[in-house]
Amino acid sequence: MSVTHFPFWVAGEATISGVATEIRNPFDGRIVGTVFEAASEHVDAAIEASAAVADEFAGTPAHVRSDALVHVSTRLHERREEIARLISAESGKPIKWARVEVARAVSTFRWAAEEARRWSGHLQRLDTDAGSDGRLALIQRVPRGPILGIAPFNFPLNLVAHKVAPALAVGAPIIVKPAPATPLTSLVLGGMLAETSLPAGAWSVLTVSNDKASDMVVDPRLPVVSFTGSVPVGWSIRELVPRKHVTLELGGNAAVVVCADWADEEKQEYAAERIARFSMYQAGQSCIAVQRVFVHDSLYDAMRRRILAHVASLSTGSPDDDETDVGPLIDDRAAVRVEEWIEEAVEGGATVLAGGGRTGAVVEPTVIEDAPPGAKVVDHEVFGPVVVLCKVASDAEAFEQVNESRFGLQAGIFTSNLQTAFTASRVLDVGGVIVGDVPSFRADQMPYGGVKDSGMGKEGVHSAMEDLTQEKVLVLTGIEIP
Ligand code: SIN
Repeated sequence: MSVTHFPFWVAGEATISGVATEIRNPFDGRIVGTVFEAASEHVDAAIEASAAVADEFAGTPAHVRSDALVHVSTRLHERREEIARLISAESGKPIKWARVEVARAVSTFRWAAEEARRWSGHLQRLDTDAGSDGRLALIQRVPRGPILGIAPFNFPLNLVAHKVAPALAVGAPIIVKPAPATPLTSLVLGGMLAETSLPAGAWSVLTVSNDKASDMVVDPRLPVVSFTGSVPVGWSIRELVPRKHVTLELGGNAAVVVCADWADEEKQEYAAERIARFSMYQAGQSCIAVQRVFVHDSLYDAMRRRILAHVASLSTGSPDDDETDVGPLIDDRAAVRVEEWIEEAVEGGATVLAGGGRTGAVVEPTVIEDAPPGAKVVDHEVFGPVVVLCKVASDAEAFEQVNESRFGLQAGIFTSNLQTAFTASRVLDVGGVIVGDVPSFRADQMPYGGVKDSGMGKEGVHSAMEDLTQEKVLVLTGIEIP
């Protein structure tokens, strides 16, 4: 059987060199493709090209950048089934979720194409005080410089898109380092970028191991680092390069509150279905997967019954199967860790209401209650198909519990009460509050990013374009100069 070799991309050039590494499907171990580690001369060439093209690229007409982004969006749509199959094969993501990811990436690139054309700056009048008569400021945003984008394994396409698309939209060169476990989709994306007329050096996709990435992080030719991944790695990057512009999208232990007013049976059913589905989607490997559920006392028993029924209806199995809801974790090691965390909670007094078992990299969808204080399944980011239920006496207590976390990415609040929605938005220490749904809701154009240990800076196409640029003022003097 022939194995596909995936080249890495140095300043737009497909490159195959060095020893091949196999990328295997986490579910059945089959080889999906091979990649090659970019050597230090490739890394250097990519960085040098990004620095060399930075001025030219910043001045590229908006229509050129926008057309390139439209091209990528169109090609992703045309090749959507093939790309979804690749995402699924390399990450173990169920095909139904891989298809969602491709559709989202189509939208991310399309949004960036549209934003690139709208990206104009603004005017500010300066004649508001004596001494500035006749003066006007044109305030534009210019790229901070070439970007190092480090992507995680859990969305091998769309979280790469969230680095690449805004960078290209503002005319900032970008070097992408995909996750070593799931590099293939981003390498195919490189092929689509190579079909555009973007200048050489505007983008590279380099397969580099994590331990060699710090050389890129500290390289002064890359003044911006945009990282999505684990909490310790993210903050260590921040400490390594305090003078660089660093954006961190890190973890979470996202919470849902089911408020006292959510008593209507149909509404409960809706919330239970959303909680079950989005605690287990992608086997819980999303920073905004539902991990902690706080339910008002008056609704607790009914909600527990409904959530358990919906979890029981999820089908676990091969990611290739259209019916599969829950597939494997990224590897056996991750699944063993999740299993150990469940065991730790049980030893501390927790009850497993569903699941708890593991076969290879697959962890059964697991529902826990009475988790003891300090249990890892509550306090840490599980990144596995585990949800913890907790009864609360009031909505206010639930909000306090949501904030009892070192993370703060998004929270979901089931309420029909506008006042409660505003209270939640005011008191919750998170980057986003989703009313009437789970915290896992994300539209790719909206600002996305956390507080506390969940990171700093925002993604979401327009927000990322702002993040990757800085204001530059041009003051125009309109009065007669003697
Ligand atoms: C993440 O895991 O942070 C990304 C979630 C998403 O884009 O839906």
